[in-house]
Amino acid sequence: MISKNAFSILILLIALGTASCQKQTEVTFQSANLEPYRPIYHFAPESGWMNDPNGMVYLDGNYHLFFQHYPDTTVWGPMHWGHAVTENLTDWKELSIALYPDSLGYIFSGSAVFDAENSSQLGTESNPPLVALYTYHDMAGEKSGKTDYQSQALAYSLDKGKTWEKYQGNPVLPNQGIKDFRDPKVFQWVNAEGKKEWIMTLAVMDRIQFYGSENLLTWTLKSEFGQGIGAHGGVWECPDLIPFTLADGSQKWVLLVSINPGGPQKGSATQYFIGQFENGVFTPDDTMIRWLDYGPDNYAGVTWSNLPKDQNRTLFIGWMSNWLYGQEVPTERWRSSMTTPRELSLFEVNGTLLLKSAPAEELTQLRNASFQVNSNESGLPSEAFEITASIENSENFNLYLSNENGDSLRIFKEGNLVSLDRSKSGITDFHEDFAAVFSAPMSWEATSIRIFVDAHSVEIFVNEGELVLTALVFPTSPWKKLASINGLDDVMIFDLKK
Ligand code: FRU
Repeated sequence: MISKNAFSILILLIALGTASCQKQTEVTFQSANLEPYRPIYHFAPESGWMNDPNGMVYLDGNYHLFFQHYPDTTVWGPMHWGHAVTENLTDWKELSIALYPDSLGYIFSGSAVFDAENSSQLGTESNPPLVALYTYHDMAGEKSGKTDYQSQALAYSLDKGKTWEKYQGNPVLPNQGIKDFRDPKVFQWVNAEGKKEWIMTLAVMDRIQFYGSENLLTWTLKSEFGQGIGAHGGVWECPDLIPFTLADGSQKWVLLVSINPGGPQKGSATQYFIGQFENGVFTPDDTMIRWLDYGPDNYAGVTWSNLPKDQNRTLFIGWMSNWLYGQEVPTERWRSSMTTPRELSLFEVNGTLLLKSAPAEELTQLRNASFQVNSNESGLPSEAFEITASIENSENFNLYLSNENGDSLRIFKEGNLVSLDRSKSGITDFHEDFAAVFSAPMSWEATSIRIFVDAHSVEIFVNEGELVLTALVFPTSPWKKLASINGLDDVMIFDLKK
């Protein structure tokens, strides 16, 4: 199939070639129309398979996003780190593959940091390195029945992330005979002795281990957390430990832990714990099970490192899919996209702290044409739009999206449950669990809603992200109509087509 870039060039050449002999006709096309379900403002690879976001780090105006990638087919395989960048969180540019599998194994999930003081000595004082920590997965070892087939390794970049060199001394954290030992997420803090220290958060079977290091190369186990606490319906993966400062100046730590299977909607999901991190030990405030997103399709998400202080935010992105059916969804040349970027913060409900995921501020820049919905029915502008509304009465609301083929998507609140029904949303028959209704408990007042729709997704943010439902949908033609807007006020539609 002709690629999007090749197609644009072809159009340009035809236009240039004809311009001299006849009146030039304006050629416009929507990139999304080239390929069914290709998202307009979410990141998806040009081709091949993608799962977890990896190595998210900000440097010199670029938000880097690496990702679990198998370029050769649209199903999971020998993992690489793909690479993309964005300056505004909505226009993504895919770059060449950053890390290829090698004799030590596939390149599994991990993180990246800016080693500003060259603590690793892998760069120089004047050109400090970007350092990526990732898991090697030795497939041959796994097949031969070994248990030590996962280890942590390092790669570095001296040209701001364009090219990467694997560290000669890999692995930096060898396996100790544990099957699930992966997904290092690293950050720097100032420890109790007042010294800068790198902390690695690692998923180890059914728990999280914390390691410390002065130079990113030598790691010492500090503590572990999680056995018997939280949800344990599946293996723990892709952790992230994040500090937050509350309005009263006190500090809380949030530990994200993805789990597969065992999520609230079946399959994959991300839970979180709120507590303290002192002397390298994480202590939760309570044992309540909390979920980051009640939709079925937000997994393995973590946060960006090295954001400029003046941004004063915690920026998150997740894999917008679910291991239950991620490899079967009906896209052709590529499989999977990321969620919209989200800003994480803590808020309080009746004395309990919860995590809020608000759409990143930059998403409002996507808004072009907008119109107010004055009747109970309205047309929809394109494949990519945002609906905003206030909720009249916190108890109930309802809305439907539908298209010319009779597919529909229902978003509603009844009592304490906010729900999404995608059972009649188009192509659903590729997996028995796809056609379903997903509900999220909301025991506090619902006052507003923002709904982001792209070619193959819907993301629902109640009260700016106090409650979130993210879901894939595959309508057989784009959504054309918004109907039955009961319980909603000030309904606005924004076209997000680029
Ligand atoms: C999570 C995960 C990680 C692993 C990666 C492999 O989706 O299973 O634990 O590193 O995917 O692609």
